[in-house]
Amino acid sequence: MRIVKFDPRFMEDVISIHCPRWRGMPLSMRVRDCGYWGDPRVFGWYVETLLSVDGRVLIAVKEDEVVGEAEVVPERFRSPVGDHAYLQMVWVKEEERRSGVGRQLVSECCNIARDMGFNALDTIPYDEAIAFFEAMGFSEIDSQVLMEAQPRPAPEQPKVEELGRKEFPASAQMIAGQTRPSALLWELLWERASVGLPPPKVLKVRIGLWEFIMGLFKPTFDDNYFYVLIWGPERSGLGQIFDSAEMALTVAYEMGASQVRTQIWCKYRAAFEAAGFESVRRFRWMRKALE
Ligand SMILES: CC(C)(COP(=O)(O)OP(=O)(O)OC[C@H]1O[C@@H](n2cnc3c(N)ncnc32)[C@H](O)[C@@H]1OP(=O)(O)O)[C@@H](O)C(=O)NCCC(=O)NCCS
Repeated sequence: MRIVKFDPRFMEDVISIHCPRWRGMPLSMRVRDCGYWGDPRVFGWYVETLLSVDGRVLIAVKEDEVVGEAEVVPERFRSPVGDHAYLQMVWVKEEERRSGVGRQLVSECCNIARDMGFNALDTIPYDEAIAFFEAMGFSEIDSQVLMEAQPRPAPEQPKVEELGRKEFPASAQMIAGQTRPSALLWELLWERASVGLPPPKVLKVRIGLWEFIMGLFKPTFDDNYFYVLIWGPERSGLGQIFDSAEMALTVAYEMGASQVRTQIWCKYRAAFEAAGFESVRRFRWMRKALE
């Protein structure tokens, strides 16, 4: 087996290992069931975006057949868990599992992360993959909760301004939605419409002296909820985080949303609950220390 860099000629084979029945599915269903990995045009845009923030995409090839795929992305901005490279994906073709492909892909991602200058490789695994990551030397260092709420207007009207792609909040920290490196999440907000996905609203919201940046989007046109990303000042306390959660609900209310979702750090949970969010499920944030 060889591990090589992603090349567009692998495109349809990569989609087929993630989403074997993608050809018979409409776009919304492909993206809902398989994410960016369910459609060649969406995946092409996603890979370009990932490369633009210095990420790498690896393909495992056995006798000219694609048998696995992995992605690693540097986190170059402030994060509550500190410096790390992020293992964004590792996926092995179903028929090829339990023969060491995943192990080799993760090991190559560790080498890349080390070469990028990091001594930690982090990931949020699916439950089914936790045993695999434990076998690879990962352990839980923090956790996140997926939360959900019904939009409503806040008592205080926020000052809101639309932002453009160049206005990445580089000095801010993510308060909500940090399921990938900050710059990758930011870049993935833009040009969604060019691949047939609902465009986002990206706003600067001012509450008193505090400024928050919010990105809201529907994952697909068939979804009935808006997913929210929030960036805020590093020194935000639970009071400001509560305000930002309330503002997200207000903005979503004004956009006509019937539901809002976001995945937050567990330590911010009380602030989101106070704003009316409810927990859906917990996710482990796992790390492998790199020598
Ligand atoms: C998780 C995944 C990448 C593992 O890939 P793989 O090629 O099957 O893994 P490997 O054969 O290299 O396994 C290495 C070790 O991990 C452990 N492991 C792997 N899969 C496991 C499972 N399903 N249950 C328990 N342990 C497992 C074993 O200790 C294994 O060593 P062994 O086979 O000698 O016992 C693969 O199952 C997959 O693609 N799953 C779907 C996608 C996914 O969940 N990706 C991760 C989240 S991004």
